[in-house]
Amino acid sequence: MMNYTMGKGNFTNWIVSEVEFSPDTLGKCESIMYLGNGYLGLRSATEEAYLKETRDLFVSGTFNKFDENEVTELPNLADVTRLDIRIDGERFSLEFGETEDYVRQLNLKTAELTRTFTWTSPKGKTVRFHFRRFVSLENLHLIGMKMDVESVTHPVTISFDSGINAQMSNTGAQHFHEGERRIFDKRFVQLVQTTTQSKIDMVLNTAHKVMVNGVEVSEPVMNMDRRKVWLNFQANLEPGDKLEMEKVTTVYTSRDKEFDTPDYDLGQLRETSLEDLRTSFEKGYQFLLEEHQDAWNRKVWNAYNLEVNSKDSFDVLALRFAMYHLTIMTPAHDERMGIGAKALSGEGYKGHSFWDTEIFILPFFMYSNPEVAKSLLKYRYLGLVGARKKAAENGYEGAMYPWEAAWPTDGEVTPVWGAVDIVTGEQTKIWSGFIEQHITADIANAVHQYYTITGDQEFMDEYGYEMIFDTATFWASRLEWNEDKQEYQINQVVGPDEYKEHVDNNAFTNYMAHHNMQLAIRYADALKQENPERYKALNNDLNLDAAYKNWQSKSDKLYLPQPREEDLVIPQDDTYLQLKEIDLTKYKNQEKVGSLFNEYNLEQVNQMQITKQADVVILQLLLEQSFSKEVKKANFNYYEPRTLHDSSLSLSTHAILANDLGEEDLAYSLFKRATEIDLGPAKFSSDHGVHAASIGGIWMSAVLGFAGVRVLDGKLRINPKLPKHWDDMKFTIYWKGQPVTLTITQSSLTVKAENYEIFAFETFGNTYECKDQLEIKINS
Ligand code: BGC
Repeated sequence: MMNYTMGKGNFTNWIVSEVEFSPDTLGKCESIMYLGNGYLGLRSATEEAYLKETRDLFVSGTFNKFDENEVTELPNLADVTRLDIRIDGERFSLEFGETEDYVRQLNLKTAELTRTFTWTSPKGKTVRFHFRRFVSLENLHLIGMKMDVESVTHPVTISFDSGINAQMSNTGAQHFHEGERRIFDKRFVQLVQTTTQSKIDMVLNTAHKVMVNGVEVSEPVMNMDRRKVWLNFQANLEPGDKLEMEKVTTVYTSRDKEFDTPDYDLGQLRETSLEDLRTSFEKGYQFLLEEHQDAWNRKVWNAYNLEVNSKDSFDVLALRFAMYHLTIMTPAHDERMGIGAKALSGEGYKGHSFWDTEIFILPFFMYSNPEVAKSLLKYRYLGLVGARKKAAENGYEGAMYPWEAAWPTDGEVTPVWGAVDIVTGEQTKIWSGFIEQHITADIANAVHQYYTITGDQEFMDEYGYEMIFDTATFWASRLEWNEDKQEYQINQVVGPDEYKEHVDNNAFTNYMAHHNMQLAIRYADALKQENPERYKALNNDLNLDAAYKNWQSKSDKLYLPQPREEDLVIPQDDTYLQLKEIDLTKYKNQEKVGSLFNEYNLEQVNQMQITKQADVVILQLLLEQSFSKEVKKANFNYYEPRTLHDSSLSLSTHAILANDLGEEDLAYSLFKRATEIDLGPAKFSSDHGVHAASIGGIWMSAVLGFAGVRVLDGKLRINPKLPKHWDDMKFTIYWKGQPVTLTITQSSLTVKAENYEIFAFETFGNTYECKDQLEIKINS
């Protein structure tokens, strides 16, 4: 059972708590309380093992393809968190005996996980446990753990096994060759494992310090077994005695930038990682924790500076939860890596990156930390190799981005087979990897957004132009000429609404493809003028002169579905509006997403006006200037009742649009529902990991939605409309590389832009120029 109000004093609205332990619903806290730093992701499984646990440790970018007929995925490394504890010979488990005062907490501010309770064993011996854990933001390779045990009622003997356990798998798939195990100086434990196909070496090192009442206990018993190396510690505790165990671990891999070099040497990797452990271990848990907490303050909380005063304090916690996760899911240290749809919190979606990053996560970084946004876009730049491969394999030109991406050069990695078809009993085919093509335009649009917000010309010169041009070339080759209608079309696709497969002219896809080609034309025109040298070089590589003609002639004739005369509804695709309708009340009120598939298979759903997630509605957000307010309203009102929000990407988009349309109460309730995707009462929905895009959507709903921050025609527009529950909100964004701090109340907007000569922006139709600070009255 979750509780979000336990934080007091400095930690008010910072603490995510679990106040009752349930061995049947472990997945939720394992995921939403996971720890990480963008390099490591450590699922928060408890120290003692349970049947239904999923104990995962991932390192970003270390993809491995276990078998020919499986897709590449992030392998689950050896585990260092498990402790097998015995009290007077009885195995410690919360499934036996009695537990009192149980509380597990993730402190979002300090990024430390703690767990405290009193346990009485079946034989009546009472002990008090206190566990602590963090994954350092200061040293990306480091995991710190601490356990305190106090005997309360009896003299007891405590014994525990702790070490490195590589008897792990990804739901059965074993990704590693066994490597060497070693214990140095009876303390420093090392285990090497190597992925079977990608041949990445992983080195884990761990060391323990065990003390009773401040005195270190004598040497442990050393053990090795297949894929496992561990120590056994034992101590006698009189009532009131306190045992403290500190366990420090380092993780390094041959994929780390500094080791991924032609002269790579495993010996060197082992030595460096062990040396780091020796140095870190000396510092001790508390010191390492403080370094980590300083890093969180410096890099995250003081940098993003987001504060909200809401009558419902849960909103404040939810926004902090979002920023915590946005930080730990992002491999900011390495542009060869992207963000997984389930972050680094679980095996769901295999660590693959989707359009989720560009549409739902990049906005946060573009506005709040442009350096990281740049790194994520460079990942897509490196992915051009895979995108060109995919285009060529499908008979197209240019760059066709994979629907799911792993290592940048891999190309398409979407699995082909999915869930059971309840009618035929067969596996359902996943078509997205073949025909969900809008991602190519989504990435091009993200490049354009990034440039507009940051003005980063260097990025465009080195990477951005090439991405926009070659994606446009893909679209030009992808279009199909319809002789009867004398227009280009895009047929046989899946749009964002994955409940409609093989549709013709999905509005979202057509508009975004058109936009992609238009961007290419605009940027090519500008580049010819401003940097003819660069144009010439790119022309050589990409045959731009010819491509340009194609973009121009074809995009002009691409069919863009228009609002119907009678009700302004834009057809989601050529057939959607003619499909039959069923009563969706039951599914709209479902407790678990996807309940529709208990009754229908995808083929049947394809024949009904049922939408999985925002499709036309998200188009109206991304290309908002292409549609009038009336058209937006008509489409919101038509499609929302037909949308099941079965993807977590849907609610935040609807929240933002609802706010734009003046439906403030609806917007706020949709925002609330978006925050509940991971934090809400549903017990199993986060089992496979957190919902990274939805977490980005929480931030977007607040900043793009309620604060109304958008880029329109290359200018910053700020149209705030706070929910009634919010008294005020404050945050810092970066515009053209300089910080701007916005403070918004129900009746005013204050802009502080100290580093500018003049900072220009638009609010409710008026243009303002701010020299240092400016306060504007707004109508609430
Ligand atoms: C959604 C996609 C999304 C993917 C990964 C699917 O359920 O329909 O839009 O990209 O999940 O989050």
